[in-house]
Amino acid sequence: MFEMEAGKNEIFVTAPGKVILFGEHAVVYGKPALAGSLDLSTFVHVWHKDQDICLRLVDFSMTLHWTIKQMAESFGGFMCKDVHDVAMFSAEDIERLHSNAQLCVPADQRTSVDIPAVLVFLYLYSSIVGSKGITQLLPLDVEVASCLPIGAGLGSSASYTTCLSAAMLKAVDAIGKKGLNSSDLELVNQWAFSAEHILHGRPSGVDNAVSVFGGLINFKAGEITPVKCPVLEILLIDTKVKRETKTLVDKVHKRKSVWPAVVQPVLDAIGAITDTVQHNFNLGNTDFSELTQLIDMNQGLLSTLGVSHPKLDEICHLAMQYGFSGKLTGAGGGGCAYCLVPPGSVGLEELMRDLKQKGFCCWRTNVGRSGVLLHKNVEEMRQSKNNIPKCFAK
Ligand code: MEV
Repeated sequence: MFEMEAGKNEIFVTAPGKVILFGEHAVVYGKPALAGSLDLSTFVHVWHKDQDICLRLVDFSMTLHWTIKQMAESFGGFMCKDVHDVAMFSAEDIERLHSNAQLCVPADQRTSVDIPAVLVFLYLYSSIVGSKGITQLLPLDVEVASCLPIGAGLGSSASYTTCLSAAMLKAVDAIGKKGLNSSDLELVNQWAFSAEHILHGRPSGVDNAVSVFGGLINFKAGEITPVKCPVLEILLIDTKVKRETKTLVDKVHKRKSVWPAVVQPVLDAIGAITDTVQHNFNLGNTDFSELTQLIDMNQGLLSTLGVSHPKLDEICHLAMQYGFSGKLTGAGGGGCAYCLVPPGSVGLEELMRDLKQKGFCCWRTNVGRSGVLLHKNVEEMRQSKNNIPKCFAK
């Protein structure tokens, strides 16, 4: 039943988080964004069981079980006929999925964070694994862990949807015959986007695109173009203020509805900043003093949209005192900021010390690692990432 070779019936997947360098929020309205993958990933390990379906969300210390019968009865209506026909769920479908899922989760485990993760699992399992037919549902044990802070703007949800999509597609042998080829990646991206749609309502698709394809990309209205630029070093700073992407995207949407003549030019200006950076990269011109000014302007415009936060403002202000430029990354309202670290910068250690003293968490890294990967075994997965969570680092 489990369509893999004997002795190889385990699946190991990693998918990275992302940092949006320029263009968040405006990208929801068709403007371009520049975003890159991070060396922080989500990890999924799937293995074949004799019966039942089990989801282990390691970071939530949560384990859920469903019988095959329960899965077939509750989610039979969501099974698709062909994994290549990725249908976008309507609001009614999502509501129906949600109420069916509620009935299958113990009442004491219905926390606001866990439910979306469970919902997405049920959606991807029933749609993808269910495509084999209601009598062919696979008993699987699915373990998920992540190095990414949740709700911090680093694409934790997209790396989760990407990992799970790839794992479920691999479980039915729809991808990964010989590694992941471009049509495999395209399929994973479509499923991850449809799952993001369930989580965030109106995502642009940039987060899942980075998690799937990796590197640094220009994303505009669903079109993904790899960007050539020198290695960019950044300092990521976590405000530790939790927020929801959907709430912030809705906030901008409301502002735009109330003041279209004010908000549209702000979105246009953000788009123009991204275009300017892209144009310079295309010319092979990485003028860091120009880049830092564009970062400052992008932050100012995001603040005008109402998606900054006093903690983010504090970080940007502190960075400026040491000659660095920072901006929020992702949806804002808390979450993370980044500062560009131009080659040969001085004052970074002092900035990091001050940030830590103020209670922020910071991490120095490069942008543009690989996207989603299938691994042969846990050793390979461990070697491919330094930041492997404890549960996999046995
Ligand atoms: C979230 O990481 C980025 C936003 O632009 C939303 C989206 O693109 O879907 C705020």
